[in-house]
Amino acid sequence: MRVLVSSCLRGVACRYDGSAKPSDAVRELCGKVDALGVCPERDAGLPVPRPPAERRADGRVLLADGTDVTEAFERGARVALERHLRRGMKVPLAVLKAKSPSCGSGLVYDGSHTGTLVRGDGVFARLLKKEGVCVVSERDVELCKPSVEHPVALVMGTGLGHLAQLVKPVRRIDYHDIDGFPEDAVPVQGHSFEAIVGTVDGVPVVVYPGRIHLYQGYSATEVASLVRHAERLGCRDIVFASATGAVPGNAQVGLGIITDQVNLTGKNPLAEWDGTRDIQTPFVGMTDAYTPYLRTLARGVADDLGITVEEGVLAGVLGPCFETPAEVAAMRLMGVSYVGMSTVNEVIMAHALGMNVLGLTLAANQSGDPDTSHESVLATAERHAADFERLVRGVLRLL
Ligand code: HPA
Repeated sequence: MRVLVSSCLRGVACRYDGSAKPSDAVRELCGKVDALGVCPERDAGLPVPRPPAERRADGRVLLADGTDVTEAFERGARVALERHLRRGMKVPLAVLKAKSPSCGSGLVYDGSHTGTLVRGDGVFARLLKKEGVCVVSERDVELCKPSVEHPVALVMGTGLGHLAQLVKPVRRIDYHDIDGFPEDAVPVQGHSFEAIVGTVDGVPVVVYPGRIHLYQGYSATEVASLVRHAERLGCRDIVFASATGAVPGNAQVGLGIITDQVNLTGKNPLAEWDGTRDIQTPFVGMTDAYTPYLRTLARGVADDLGITVEEGVLAGVLGPCFETPAEVAAMRLMGVSYVGMSTVNEVIMAHALGMNVLGLTLAANQSGDPDTSHESVLATAERHAADFERLVRGVLRLL
């Protein structure tokens, strides 16, 4: 997987003040991908050191004395883009230095030269986003990096719990000891109710090999209790894997990366919010609930390993019956690719808790196919188990 990386994050002394800004997490990532160093300011022919510049909300880039250097910054961005993208090379991801007037993504200095940060993108970051590149900062990479204090949580669905067998266990936690998990819950076929703390290929993880569902009569808060548990354990990344139906015309049976969701369950854990714990407010924005950085890594891993994986929107339904033909037709019109009976409420909770979410799905049947049964879903999951495992391990390796 090719990744553009600001040269200063890799230790090259090319910043305006003549320094580098190395990031251990970024350098580690560079060791695992095909990293391409980039410095649009040097591509513009600007000297090192040079006077500090800031990008204003109107797009102009100014020095502290008011000199307008927009043209040089735009030229550098175009040259850098030409070099790396227009040669037909696929570059899905860029890790750029935060706050910079060219590389800054999401947050830049406001042009007043007072150290004030505002939402916005640097000149180069804007250009890359227009080209469809996922642009993140070193902070995004650092915040997704697992450690013993911050293991990756993996919540597995129907037929996918075998991933637990890969874990080198350190500790096991009975779900019934988890705060908010219903005492009477028993696993349905293909699930197990013991979380496993340990490592997969050396990466610290907590695997939840099964879950409970709204269709079993549990509340959204109970369904999301595993997510709250993971967050309290210190997990910042959470991977949800679920079996779903593929909406004919929008997706095929097989593996999928979830890009967004439509919650059709009629439930929401934030509507059951007790107002006292974990989250500041129930009025949570849901843009990028599925973390773009993690989605892009998953896409890159799948492409590198030659695993067929589609991408699409998940609709969460209450279940337990499968969809009627009219419901399938409605989902197709809504732009839904996958329909499932889990995940959406858990993702709401994870996002409200500020966690980084990756949603993977195994579309085990065509939604609305009259021959679908719990057994056929398990059988299809089994057929795709090896690819699913390679995909998850590939993502864990890159984190
Ligand atoms: N619909 C909803 N949930 C599912 C399906 C489906 O077709 N297949 C597996 N889980």
